[in-house]
Amino acid sequence: MTNGVVRILGIPGSLRKLSYNKWALRAAQQLVPDDATVEIFELDGIPPFNEDEEHQPPPAVADFKARLREADAVLFATPEYNYSIPGVLKNAIDWASRPNGQSAWTGKPAAIIGASPGLMGTVRAQHHLRQTFVFLEMPVVSQPQVLISSAHQRFNERGDLNDEMSRKLIRQLLEALVRLTQTLAHAAPTVPAGAR
Ligand code: FNR
Repeated sequence: MTNGVVRILGIPGSLRKLSYNKWALRAAQQLVPDDATVEIFELDGIPPFNEDEEHQPPPAVADFKARLREADAVLFATPEYNYSIPGVLKNAIDWASRPNGQSAWTGKPAAIIGASPGLMGTVRAQHHLRQTFVFLEMPVVSQPQVLISSAHQRFNERGDLNDEMSRKLIRQLLEALVRLTQTLAHAAPTVPAGAR
């Protein structure tokens, strides 16, 4: 944390140009508390994971891991694909978790938002994503849930999030993420480094 400012890296799980989830992260950039920032890292250019290359990852992956290490916290904006998270997002998570013992995720506070034109607002994908945080040892904010359902009605054609309830929930989630990050930054480590 530099000068008390919490730097949050926003990761959209969609490569689509007009992605609702990218737009949701843009809204998060406007709604973030004064003592935090949200930068967006897009996953274009990250190749499919290959364990043969994990010790010398491609430059796009090395860059991604470096950006994660610089960040104080992570905000995922995930679409739901077939009741789970998109492959591009899982692929990026896998790269940054390797090699064994050199994960960029360990201890990184996280929060999740998600947008879908469907009625369930990515709830199943978010649940799957939370499950990966268990192995990755990532503390995650659990409330409020930000499930942007019927996304086509909540964003306008320029990508602005016009729905007041969604904006309020994103603001509250970011406040909770900042609080969690600050609390953990001041807490003693609970897991001895040698035990990881
Ligand atoms: C979808 N979509 C979708 N939506 C949903 O609510 N539940 C689902 O299980 C799925 N499954 C699914 C699979 C695949 C392969 C695609 C391409 C799409 C629709 C999805 O929510 C929609 O395309 C969103 O617009 C994707 O998010 P972005 O790209 O707008 O951020």
